[in-house]
Amino acid sequence: MSRRILLIIGGGIAAYKSLELIRLLKKRGVAVTPLLTKAGEEFVTPMSVSALAGEKAHDDLFSLTDETQMGHIELSRAADMIVVAPATADLMAKAACGMANDLASTVLLATDKPVLMAPAMNVRMWNHPATRRNHARLLEDGVRFIGPEEGEMACGEYGPGRMAEPETIAAEILDLLEAGRIMDVSALPEGPLSGRKVVITAGPTHEPIDPVRYIANRSSGKQGYALAEAARDMGARVILVSGPVNQPIPEGVEVIPVESAREMLEKVKAEMPADIAIFAAAVADWRVKTAASEKIKKGGKGAPVLELAQNPDILAKIAKMKKDRPAIVAGFAAETENLIANAKKKLAAKGADLIAANDVSPGTGVFGGDDTTLHLVTRDGVEDLPPMSKREAARALMERLAAMLPAGEWV
Ligand code: C5P
Repeated sequence: MSRRILLIIGGGIAAYKSLELIRLLKKRGVAVTPLLTKAGEEFVTPMSVSALAGEKAHDDLFSLTDETQMGHIELSRAADMIVVAPATADLMAKAACGMANDLASTVLLATDKPVLMAPAMNVRMWNHPATRRNHARLLEDGVRFIGPEEGEMACGEYGPGRMAEPETIAAEILDLLEAGRIMDVSALPEGPLSGRKVVITAGPTHEPIDPVRYIANRSSGKQGYALAEAARDMGARVILVSGPVNQPIPEGVEVIPVESAREMLEKVKAEMPADIAIFAAAVADWRVKTAASEKIKKGGKGAPVLELAQNPDILAKIAKMKKDRPAIVAGFAAETENLIANAKKKLAAKGADLIAANDVSPGTGVFGGDDTTLHLVTRDGVEDLPPMSKREAARALMERLAAMLPAGEWV
């Protein structure tokens, strides 16, 4: 796999950290094409940037030699992703408005590649309604963010605004490049969910007891992965927050791997707002209150006693969000008795819009199997689906959820 990023360095005191970022990325085998804004050149020189990158630093939209060697359109697509670090308030504003009056903004407008921004600015600038608006708009446009972090600023003020550390940004870039999490949204098929964002949880969670042992639920992740594929086939941009499973990463789906329930909640929250959220994960209800940092040894004072703590209910937390609640929230109810009555209770208690109830009594073969029988419970009633494969069930459920979406209210 080619591993190349285009690094746009904006004009901020944090620009010096981008030199370290280049060094770290190069060390890990990622090629860096540097691009400096005019203001960026006030903080770091094209010479130091290109010396570290081992490549020419681009900086002038109107350079005729550049346009004959590599035009700005080509430049915007020649890398696997574009990273903006530091992303200044000015660069964010330009990108949010679709302006193209210098090389950096033109490249950001012309690209069809994923964009990751690492903002850095004064805390008041970050909190200003204009930057809040630009940030929200860029998120809607599919731009990813890392940071800013909270801390003491170069100007002496305290708060969110510091650029994330180069190590953190480099790790995120590698994660995006390696985990198949970057994708070309324009390559998604046209369908009833085109332009919609769907977030799905899948698989079990692992709650550590010590570094080698964990508590988990039985779950293959099959249903969640099938849902992700069905939503993708209907044109949606799909984010699959997945616990540890043995499923191949579906093409055209962004997979965010997690281990524990609390990590799953954090990643799901970070993906809000979304049009549809479906909770298909078999989240462990409890975790060990304090996991041991070393492997617990056998022998000695007999079997250890584990004190458990309740995990957050991810579905309920998202369904009850005051701000940024997805238009449609759906969950599953795997039951061994009183299937429909329990599903109805869950619908109300968790604040979901739909609960897909399935009978997982021993002998049904639903756990780990390929088939399932779903009963779709909403506030309007119950629809019984016939037994079918998890793939077909995923398609039927996605179609039902797509039909429930209020028209026009896209995130
Ligand atoms: O309460 P119960 O675990 O039966 O609820 C099942 C539904 O709630 C599923 O959709 C599951 O993904 C979701 N859930 C969750 N977080 C939890 C427990 C369950 O999202 N901690």
